[in-house]
Amino acid sequence: MRALTVAPGTANSAQLENVPEPPVSDGAVLVRTLTLGVCGTDREIVSGEYGWAPPGQKRLVIGHESLGKVKAAPADSGFMPGDLVVGIVRRPDPVPCPSCAVGEWDMCRNGRYTERGIKERNGYGSDFFRIEPEFLIKLDSSLGMNGVLVEPTSVVAKAWDHTERIGRRSRAWDPKTLLVTGAGPIGLLAAMIGAQRGLDVHVLDHHESLEKKTIVRELGGTFHLGSLADIDEFKPDILMECTGAPAVVRDALGRTASGGVVCLVGVSAPGHNLDVDIGEVNRTMVLENDTVFGSVNANRAHYDDAVAALQRADKHWLARLITRRVPVEQWTQSLTPQPGDIKVVVDFS
Ligand code: BGC
Repeated sequence: MRALTVAPGTANSAQLENVPEPPVSDGAVLVRTLTLGVCGTDREIVSGEYGWAPPGQKRLVIGHESLGKVKAAPADSGFMPGDLVVGIVRRPDPVPCPSCAVGEWDMCRNGRYTERGIKERNGYGSDFFRIEPEFLIKLDSSLGMNGVLVEPTSVVAKAWDHTERIGRRSRAWDPKTLLVTGAGPIGLLAAMIGAQRGLDVHVLDHHESLEKKTIVRELGGTFHLGSLADIDEFKPDILMECTGAPAVVRDALGRTASGGVVCLVGVSAPGHNLDVDIGEVNRTMVLENDTVFGSVNANRAHYDDAVAALQRADKHWLARLITRRVPVEQWTQSLTPQPGDIKVVVDFS
């Protein structure tokens, strides 16, 4: 079967390879891949800056934003051939740590978790993959191809879950405004959930894009062009930082209304020493009870939240997030960002 592979740690090693059928040890359910989403993490892996091959192997089958159809499943697995499905990315560490032991692998304490297509486990970027039924999410067929957005939405659903838990430290928590930095897929999905929560949604991006502006407006939100300094007077109750750009992260610290929550969802590259008046940041954050926290990955409950959020969303709005489909034979083209890209997917169908 065809598989998208890379040699982690080596830049530009991406290939379309012929590999053996997935081993039964990967799980009892056999899935035929329909579409695979590509994100910044995949680009980092391909550039050799991130990612780990399975133990004893040099190459990794990449891909963690899956969408497929069950080809074969044991009778007692809860799945039937034809079911539309998405695979969960992370697997608990083998110890397991206290978090993984209760199914919160997204909160793994010892870093020994594995991730399909990212860390020590082959991913979903092949014609077929196998998976354990307990790590597979069944979708209603009405989600169709938008189901490829389930994994990125699960990451956002976790960020929302934790933001709201932190907010509830005050019994009077009643957020009204949301600012999202970065109008990429994660930022727009975070804005979508904010709109579903009834918040006044603002999205900031440093690129002019009529399409993104329209997408935000269709949520009932406001699109801002520029940097956080350009909207200095606006202090949101919640700020979701989805760019990972070091200067944006710096400017986000302490930028909320009093008692606000800044959730860092974007991942930065190390090696950026920026000027920051940490005394000022500390003073604001302490005197205003502000919070900044990081959020990664998602557990099963967040995938369920993600599916529910996507089902509530307008189908056509979701479809607009998928701006480019690349045939599997040319999959490496999906790795080079193009103007107008939001979510780029590789088409296996
Ligand atoms: C994935 C997460 C993963 C994270 C870190 C993200 O792109 O969506 O599932 O935990 O990368 O590897």
